[in-house]
Amino acid sequence: MKNNRHKILLVDDSADTLEILERNLDQAGYHVQTSQTVENAIKKLIAEPFDLVITDLKMPKSSGLDLIKYVRENIDDMEIMMITGYPCISGAVQAIKDGAEDYLVKPFTDEELLSAVHKVMDKLMRSRKLHCTEISKESYGIIGESKEITKVFRWIEKAASTSVNVLISGESGTGKELVARAIHYNSDRRSAPFVPVNCTAIPDNLIESELFGHVKGAFTGANSNRTGFFKMADGGTIFLDEIGDASMNLQGKLLRVIQNKEILMLGSSRVHKIDTRIIAATHKDLPELVKKGLFREDLFYRINIVDILIPALHERQSDILILLPFFVEKLSKEMQKKPIMFSDKAIQILTNYKWPGNVRELENLIQKLVVIKDGDTIDVSDLPEVMRSSFNISSDENKTLIQVEREHIYNVLNSVDGNKTKAAKILNIDRKTLREKLKSSYRL
Ligand SMILES: Nc1ncnc2c1ncn2[C@@H]1O[C@H](COP(=O)(O)OP(=O)(O)OP(=O)(O)O)[C@@H](O)[C@H]1O
Ligand SMILES: [Mg+2]
Repeated sequence: MKNNRHKILLVDDSADTLEILERNLDQAGYHVQTSQTVENAIKKLIAEPFDLVITDLKMPKSSGLDLIKYVRENIDDMEIMMITGYPCISGAVQAIKDGAEDYLVKPFTDEELLSAVHKVMDKLMRSRKLHCTEISKESYGIIGESKEITKVFRWIEKAASTSVNVLISGESGTGKELVARAIHYNSDRRSAPFVPVNCTAIPDNLIESELFGHVKGAFTGANSNRTGFFKMADGGTIFLDEIGDASMNLQGKLLRVIQNKEILMLGSSRVHKIDTRIIAATHKDLPELVKKGLFREDLFYRINIVDILIPALHERQSDILILLPFFVEKLSKEMQKKPIMFSDKAIQILTNYKWPGNVRELENLIQKLVVIKDGDTIDVSDLPEVMRSSFNISSDENKTLIQVEREHIYNVLNSVDGNKTKAAKILNIDRKTLREKLKSSYRL
C-alpha cells in the first residue's frame, strides 16, 4: 500500500479528528489534505483533483450533505465517504442516497477506517479501468471504433512492422497525416525524424535543392550548405503530402530517388546513399490520374506498395458519436468553457451530414459551438443552415425506444436547467443511473 498515492481530502471541523485520521491514512500511503469547513474543502476540490473525500456529517456551518451535493453536481470520478458522530443513522442514510459511497459511525478503529477506504478505492479503480476500456476506442491518437477505422488500425500495424512505401488516400480532413505519423512512430524508425513535405508547396525551380540539398555556392543565392528533405529523413520517414498534385518535374525527381536510394546535393559530385522510408498521401484518385496521363504510372507503383484508404467520416457514423464527446471534452478544457451537450435531433443531423471537410470540419464546428454556447445544449437551430437543410428529421413514428428515452431525459434536464439531481428525481431513477444513461448515449 505504501506506493499508493491516491489523494484523499479529509473534512472535519475538529482539528483533533483530522490529525488522527490524517496520520492513519498517511501511514497507509495515501496522500492526504485536510479542511475544517465545507467552503474550504470546495476550494481545494476546485484547485486539484482528489480520489476520495471523507467528510464529517455535522459541522457548524455547512454540513457534509452540502459537500456531497456539491461533489455530485460538479465532479465525476471521485468517491465520497461520510463520517458521522451520531448513532442516529438517518443522516448517513441520506448521505448514501445523495451519492456517498459508504459511511462510518464514530468511534471507529484505524482498521475499520482503512478497510472502508481500501474498499472504496478498489471500486473507484475498477470503474476507472472500465471507463478506460470504454474510451479506448482510440489507437495512435486516432479516435474511432467503426469497423472501417479498425481496418485502418490493422493496416497501420502492418505498415509499421515493415519499411515498405505506403500510399494513404482519403478525402480532405480524414486524418491522413495522423495515420502517416502513427506508422512512423510505431515503426523501428521512430527515433529518426518524420519529415513532412507538401508537394504542392515546392516551387519548380527549387525542387532539387529542397529535396536533395545544395552546397554553398551551388547557385546564386546559395550562401550556405542546405540539407535536403530526403537527407533529413535519413533513417526515418519522409511524408510526401498531396502527392497527387506533384508536378511532372517533381514526379520525375521523386521516382529517381526512390529507385536509386541515393541523392546528389546540388553543386556537389558526391552521391549519398540514403535510407528513407516513403509515405505518401493524397485526396485525389491516383489511378484515375494515371489513366489520364497526369501521374506517372511507374511512380504510382513505387509508392503504392501498401495502400491505405481512410473512409470518409459520413461512412462511419459510429465514429461521429465518439468524436463528438472527445472533441467537446478536449476543446472545452482547452478553451476553459463548460462542456456542451446535444439534443437528440442535433445528434441525428450531425451523424447524417456528409461532412465534406470530414474530421477537421467536425472539430471546427465543435470548437465554434463550445465557444459560443458555453455549456448549453445544442439544438437543431444552433447548427449551420447547410446541415439542417441537408437532413430531414425523422418523424416521431420512426423513433426507436432509445431515441424516445434520450429525448425525454434531455427534455427533463432542460426543464430543470441541467440539474441532474432534480432530473433524476423527476425521472424516478438515481443519479448514478442517470449519469450512466447520459454517458452511454453520448458519452458526455
Ligand atoms: N480519427 C481521428 N481522431 C482524432 N482526430 C482526428 C481524426 N481524424 C482526423 N483528426 C483530426 O482532424 C484534423 C485533420 O487531420 P489530418 O491533417 O491528419 O487530415 P488529412 O487527411 O491530412 O487532411 P488534408 O487532406 O486536408 O491534408 C487534425 O486536427 C487531426 O488531428
Ligand atoms: Mg494532410
